[in-house]
Amino acid sequence: MAVYVVDGGKRLSGEVKIQGSKNSALPILAATLLCKGECVLFNCPRLSDVDASLSILRYIGCKARREDSTLIVDTGSVERFEIPPELMHRMRSSIIFLGAMIARFGRARMSFPGGCELGPRPIDLHLSALREMGAEINEEHGELDCVVNDTLRGASLSLPIPSVGATENIMIAAATARGTTVISNAAREPEIVDLADFLNACGAKIHGAGESTVVIDGVRDLKPASHAIIPDRIVAATLMAAAAATGSNIHFTGIIPAHLESVIPVFRDAGCEIALSGEGMRLSAPYRLRSPKLIRTMPYPGFPTDAQAPVMSMAAVADGMTVFVENMFLSRYSHVSELCRLGADIRVEGKVAVVDGVKRLLSAKVRAHDLRGAAALVVAALCARGQSEISGIEYLERGYEDFELVLSSLGADVKKI
Ligand code: EPZ
Repeated sequence: MAVYVVDGGKRLSGEVKIQGSKNSALPILAATLLCKGECVLFNCPRLSDVDASLSILRYIGCKARREDSTLIVDTGSVERFEIPPELMHRMRSSIIFLGAMIARFGRARMSFPGGCELGPRPIDLHLSALREMGAEINEEHGELDCVVNDTLRGASLSLPIPSVGATENIMIAAATARGTTVISNAAREPEIVDLADFLNACGAKIHGAGESTVVIDGVRDLKPASHAIIPDRIVAATLMAAAAATGSNIHFTGIIPAHLESVIPVFRDAGCEIALSGEGMRLSAPYRLRSPKLIRTMPYPGFPTDAQAPVMSMAAVADGMTVFVENMFLSRYSHVSELCRLGADIRVEGKVAVVDGVKRLLSAKVRAHDLRGAAALVVAALCARGQSEISGIEYLERGYEDFELVLSSLGADVKKI
């Protein structure tokens, strides 16, 4: 397995263009199943999770090819309505294919997506909504077997939790259902808006995406479209944390500042200078950061849970104490023990982590256990004096495109071996 060898303690500088969003590309790739023909997706990042989605589409019978950062997906000829366990387990968010397969085939069979490093990943909200819309779903022996006897029909649905995945599955299933679907307490993430933009470009009638109530008027069928994926706000937040933790001055391009509205204040509170202009942002950090004090993860537009780990690495070297409250997932602190091996002073009590900033992190050999935890270890190793080794880099490659090249282009000494 690949490891990163990081020679830390250096300031970074230069310019970085932010990759396309993983969490936007995945549901949109699933949604291409609703169109019979060739969809063109621009700004698609090269990630193992995107590759896993392409493997699923090819298994179903679609053709998919990559030209640089553009994906061309032809869903004209498909012959299977199931996803085998080995493909389901490669990526937990494959559940996002459920709504698309039911809508396209009236059938779907897939294994229950396993839990993951963040703890149990229930899909009860996905299943109850699709059942409301007329899908019969049997759950036996870890398998989901779904049939729509007549056709999916619109429904009024209220989500107890503004679940991103459930909102996406419902929007996709409702786009060609008979009648109107209303989602109350829908997730408001930018990736939801991007999915709605893609579906509307295909001829869907979706209003209110990005708000708490989304209305989808079902249409008979959708036509293939081309679409540019939005930039990845979590990759942007991660690189901001790397720049801040190393006292650097970095110019970010290809971002949407509005998507970082709950993230930017945290960096300004920590003493960073942030200048925004159009799709650009310049972040310059003082030698010693102030602690951001309190960070609570919340559904969008609150502080994103996916940025908690990388920002914790920044807090680990800030002056003062930072309290993190992880409200979204049961166990999203697997990076804490590894950060402590790098010299961080962090105590975890349930969903609260208390970080006492230290002057310096010290190099060490550490292991990543999940995607954003891996990113946190890279940020920490960049500001730890000496040579650190990070294993479990396959987690990082799920969501960060060519990360060692991106960091090296900013002057970091990072080698992947
Ligand atoms: C999406 O996961 C993202 N993944 C996650 O990013 C992100 O952390 C999460 O949204 C929250 O923003 C993708 O978009 C592919 P949820 P998702 O459904 O859809 C509970 C990353 O690092 N829940 O909004 O699975 C659930 O357990 C990944 O890129 C139910 O109880 O998240 C969690 O506590 C990690 N029942 C909460 O809701 C359900 O049926 C929010 O989950 C569904 C969810």
